[in-house]
Amino acid sequence: MTSEIAIQDLSAAQAEAELETLATVLAKANNAYHGKDTPEISDAEYDRLKKRNSDIEARFPSLKRHDSPSDKIGSAPAEGFSKVKHEVPMLSLSNAFSDEDIIDFDIRIKKYLGLAPADDLKYTAEPKIDGLSLSLRYERGSLVYAATRGDGSIGENLTENALTIASIPAHLTDAPEVLEVRGEVYMAHDDFESLNARQLDQGAKVFANPRNAAAGSLRQLDAEITRARPLKFFAYAWGALSEPLAPTQWEAIKRLEKLGFSTNSLTAICASPQAMIAHYQTIEQQRATLGYDIDGVVYKVNDLGLQARLGFRSTTPRWAIAHKFPAELAWTRLDDIIIQVGRTGALSPVAKLKPVTVGGVVVSNATLHNEDYIKGVDSKGGVIRDGKDIRIGDWVQVYRAGDVIPKIADVDLSQRPSDAKPFVFPTTCPECGSYALREEGDAVRRCTGGLICPAQAVEKLKHFVSRAAFDIDGLGAKQIEQFYADGWITEPAQIFTLEARYGMGMHQLKNREGWGDKSARKLFQAIENKRTIPLSRLLFALGIRHVGESASKLLARHYGTWTAFEAAIEAARDGVGAAWDDLISIDGIGKVMAQSLVSTFAQDAERASIDRLVAELDIEATVRPDVGNSPVAGKTVVFTGTLEKMTRAEAKARAESLGAKVSGSVSAKTDILIAGPGAGSKATKATALGITILDEDGWLDLISDA
Ligand code: IVH
Repeated sequence: MTSEIAIQDLSAAQAEAELETLATVLAKANNAYHGKDTPEISDAEYDRLKKRNSDIEARFPSLKRHDSPSDKIGSAPAEGFSKVKHEVPMLSLSNAFSDEDIIDFDIRIKKYLGLAPADDLKYTAEPKIDGLSLSLRYERGSLVYAATRGDGSIGENLTENALTIASIPAHLTDAPEVLEVRGEVYMAHDDFESLNARQLDQGAKVFANPRNAAAGSLRQLDAEITRARPLKFFAYAWGALSEPLAPTQWEAIKRLEKLGFSTNSLTAICASPQAMIAHYQTIEQQRATLGYDIDGVVYKVNDLGLQARLGFRSTTPRWAIAHKFPAELAWTRLDDIIIQVGRTGALSPVAKLKPVTVGGVVVSNATLHNEDYIKGVDSKGGVIRDGKDIRIGDWVQVYRAGDVIPKIADVDLSQRPSDAKPFVFPTTCPECGSYALREEGDAVRRCTGGLICPAQAVEKLKHFVSRAAFDIDGLGAKQIEQFYADGWITEPAQIFTLEARYGMGMHQLKNREGWGDKSARKLFQAIENKRTIPLSRLLFALGIRHVGESASKLLARHYGTWTAFEAAIEAARDGVGAAWDDLISIDGIGKVMAQSLVSTFAQDAERASIDRLVAELDIEATVRPDVGNSPVAGKTVVFTGTLEKMTRAEAKARAESLGAKVSGSVSAKTDILIAGPGAGSKATKATALGITILDEDGWLDLISDA
């Protein structure tokens, strides 16, 4: 959606266009986040886009838009609640992402105040609570309204709802005549989990994270719903005042505490940027055990006289800054290591974590890859995490970016329990008890149980029905588990005999939980529809180790029919001779894959199971594409970004029909990258590798005559 051109290389026209896009995208994201309590982009991506917007504005000040995202906070109040105009606007905080940013903040402030860099200046440092801000206006000690931030100057009146929150007092004694207390409404982790469990039970909306749950709970038109939701409030600032609360930030907060508000016990006074950074680290370490979400640390100049001198920019105070935690990292405790057994028998260790919110998502599992990884060794024997091993009970740093599976980035040895022992990787399969073998040169230990291992059998079946394989409507992972557990389907062939065995009058299936007459009938029909299957899909569905989707297509294209394929693999069994040479001569099929194929077919039980399956099917032969005048025959192409004239699946099929190989990632072997709007790292990598990059139209032109 935005270009990735370096700011200094942007032309004025490009900058103008990008500022326009950014204004639209950020307004939309803002509205989704504040107005509807359902964020559409991650907090980190939002911050990145906002930073890019202000960087472009800094370079082209004259192009700054009248509706610039830099001048906006929150979004306009939603319909349904009455409006409140804030006497003192509710502002936002500027962000810092590194230690240097904090040092600069201190330098900037001292310069503004005419102080020398070495002069003393005190700051408060406190957690930045990830909830939603609320302003509570008290007059003569009584709450007159509670309002959200809204767009900063006009918010929503949520007084009735706020009064259901135990930590918001309705009356104050010894308070200034006018006092606006500002703070954050949030939901604690325990409460979030039980709320979601209840919601799930009642078939109601499940919240993605505690912030959304807090916002959704507070902004209820019916205050009784809010009352039933366990919300809390931390006070950390104030708006309008009829008289000062105290001479310093610290004492003002103490005063709010005396008046009956909850304030955060992790607030500290720091006399230097170094002390601020140290307190930031202390808070970051405690993040996972606080019991509520925080996303950074806020520093504020302690002296309120100096705060007044420093004043405000358009939307943020000069006297405060939010030091954000890296969006993708969080510390938590590793409670257990469990072993999952995959389709090919691989024993994969998984870390069970004390749940922690990383970039807006609650993470409770992380991959540990294999036994060496747990020891602190990579696949080539090199050291990772400075050689620190991972033990149950350890304090670990979780890393999660985009959609990747969370990983453990670091271990804090100083927090290791004294009785923590090195993890002993099992040498038997936890599912079937068979010996688990780690072959020379393989990082992975595998269960040798084959088809007798229930975990392997179920995973194989799930793979068999998956989207790129048989893709049977109504037969997904959940149903497979159910059928397997009941012994109705124990191998792929039995999918095709299900109706004959249990479909009589449909009553057996339809009497099962979750199945009715219609769904049973539909399932049998869906299975029938897939009895005829293209050879490449069947090959992929077999789930043979190393044989993925593209290798299956190559094999199908090379051998054409199941009979030819089967005979060839049989003939290649010994790993020598013409059939073997022919197999490994296929571009894209290596020795490892070839070995895996022949050894699968050489195992009697495996082979018998495949034969039973094939007997049920009608396998379509693969016609070799006529790539006579194709300009892309034999070329490796990668699609990235959004395609506008066709779907990804269509584009891929068309490229393959022209003899091109479609790959998912850019490497030195890539010939052409087709980049639609929104192309990111793949385009950058392709540029770096000097690979031809075409847009969608360029690609269509290229293949138009083929
Ligand atoms: S002070 C004048 N202190 O973060 C600004 N804000 O990103 C007064 N927030 O709008 C805000 N914890 O909703 C302050 N300890 C804290 C905070 C905090 C969370 C929120 C608040 C603010 C937003 C800015």
